[in-house]
Amino acid sequence: GDLTLGQQVFDNNCAACHMGGQNSVQPEKTLQKAALEQYLEGDFSVASITTQVENGKGAMPAWSGRLDSDEINSVAEYVFKQANGNLW
Ligand code: HEM
Repeated sequence: GDLTLGQQVFDNNCAACHMGGQNSVQPEKTLQKAALEQYLEGDFSVASITTQVENGKGAMPAWSGRLDSDEINSVAEYVFKQANGNLW
């Protein structure tokens, strides 16, 4: 994955609901580490983020078929890095 691509994908497709790592639809389900540890299916990992991005969950749309696998892997790595480093 490529973090520059990941940030671009995030800004273009995710920030509408997740500006600054927040969640404008379900406010408690932020993209911060503590929330991901609590709410993500599975562990706090790039793989678990990838699964949610591919399949969607609740009011979040699925991105398979709309983003390619390189874009999905890159945005998942970007979200993980931002959360793990408390960068948002
Ligand atoms: C949850 C990533 C786009 C709405 C999440 C979570 C991640 C994530 C990692 C888990 C957060 C948690 O459980 O604390 C992304 C990425 C996106 C994206 C990388 C772009 C590819 C969107 C968009 C919307 C949205 C555009 C609104 C239309 C939601 C909602 C949840 C959520 C409602 C909570 C789902 C639930 O647990 O019921 N998102 N998201 N997401 N996202 Fe997104």
